[in-house]
Amino acid sequence: MEITQWLTQWVTGGSSTSPRAAKRPGLRRSKTRRVTVLRTSCFVALGGALFFLLGVCLLNLPDPRQQPFPLAEGEPRDVTLLLWTHPFGHYRRLPDCEARFGIRGCVLTDDRRMYPGADAIIMHHREITTNTTALPSDPRPRGQKWIWMNFESPSHTRGLWRFEGVFNLTMTYRADSDIFLPYGYLVPRFRPHANAAPHTHPRRPHLLAWVISNWSESQARVAYYRRLVNYVGVDVLGRAGVPLPEDSTVVRTVRRYLFYLALENSQHTDYITEKLWNSLLAGAVPVVLGPPRENYERFLPPEAFIHVDDFPSPRLLAQYLLLLRRSPALLQRHLAWRRSYSVHLTAFWAEHYCTACRAVRNHRLRTNTIPNLQRWFES
Ligand SMILES: *[C@@H]1O[C@H](CO)[C@@H](O)[C@H](O)[C@H]1NC(C)=O
Ligand SMILES: *[C@@H]1O[C@H](CO)[C@@H](O)[C@H](O)[C@H]1NC(C)=O
Ligand SMILES: *[C@@H]1O[C@H](CO)[C@@H](O)[C@H](O)[C@H]1NC(C)=O
Repeated sequence: MEITQWLTQWVTGGSSTSPRAAKRPGLRRSKTRRVTVLRTSCFVALGGALFFLLGVCLLNLPDPRQQPFPLAEGEPRDVTLLLWTHPFGHYRRLPDCEARFGIRGCVLTDDRRMYPGADAIIMHHREITTNTTALPSDPRPRGQKWIWMNFESPSHTRGLWRFEGVFNLTMTYRADSDIFLPYGYLVPRFRPHANAAPHTHPRRPHLLAWVISNWSESQARVAYYRRLVNYVGVDVLGRAGVPLPEDSTVVRTVRRYLFYLALENSQHTDYITEKLWNSLLAGAVPVVLGPPRENYERFLPPEAFIHVDDFPSPRLLAQYLLLLRRSPALLQRHLAWRRSYSVHLTAFWAEHYCTACRAVRNHRLRTNTIPNLQRWFES
């Protein structure tokens, strides 16, 4: 019932004047009394209305999803985010976004029974493309957003044509995604760091490392390695080389090297993976092969990496690396930025879910459809 309608009824019902009495003409005294009664009724009505509203607020909190008017932007409300499948079928406990990232108002779930009430659903590409029946079959609740999440490159992303006009938000490593999350990023330091990376020879006895698991002769990175290795020694580690020590990680191993080959498996816009960020984290200067130098410079200071395209040939690149080893002052040019930034490696997949949740909270009032998923992602 509308509150105005309800008030009118309340006042009419509470007044002592019957419709018949009201119609009686010429009785001034009775009119005055009627006004007094009406005024009293109004006060009572107002009090009643307030009480009623208070009652509505306290006792019968409506489900926000059923509210006819969306809440104003910025107003706090919890967002329910449903993870449709665990990426690559590996179960991981869902994070507490507030405790881990200071992101409030997130209810994360992987329970599909929550589908009808979820504000958004995250669908990871690999699982929905290997199984055509894997999308939700129930009608999409009004206002619910479907998020397409993918961190593989277009070369390893199949079946995009099936999802044109299906999703509302994209979440990838591409900077022009609706929800952008790179594999890593630099965080400006509040105070310049005096000794960010020890690069003296005894601490880094080795020159150049490459960790690779999927060796394929058709990849540009393997072709480049084959040419480079004629001029400089490369320690090949990982599944396709010398296995990493059992008790060590990539980062810990690479800490003993001056340089690291951060060669992407395929070359695409913004496709810069943990290979680069692991290298930076380990304090080894990355030698990159991936998108063009300008693309890397969107995320890194120009001197923080060495691009294979900076040199006309692998031979000249090899000579430059050997020169840097002999000339600490020259090498320092590639390390000076470390005083101003620290390196953050994105946490798969906890950070992804919490970042998505924050975006859904901020995008609450907006609607959007991705009509050309394939054209965009492969561009
Ligand atoms: C495809 O998905 C459906 C529903 O999610 C599931 O029941 C079925 O086992 C899946 N099939 C394969 C081959 O993964
Ligand atoms: C390994 O590389 C080949 C060639 O690029 C590719 O087709 C394949 O999907 C890759 N495998 C994995 C597990 O990444
Ligand atoms: C999400 O996309 C679907 C499919 O295009 C569309 O019908 C729906 O209105 C969109 N919802 C929102 C909240 O943007």
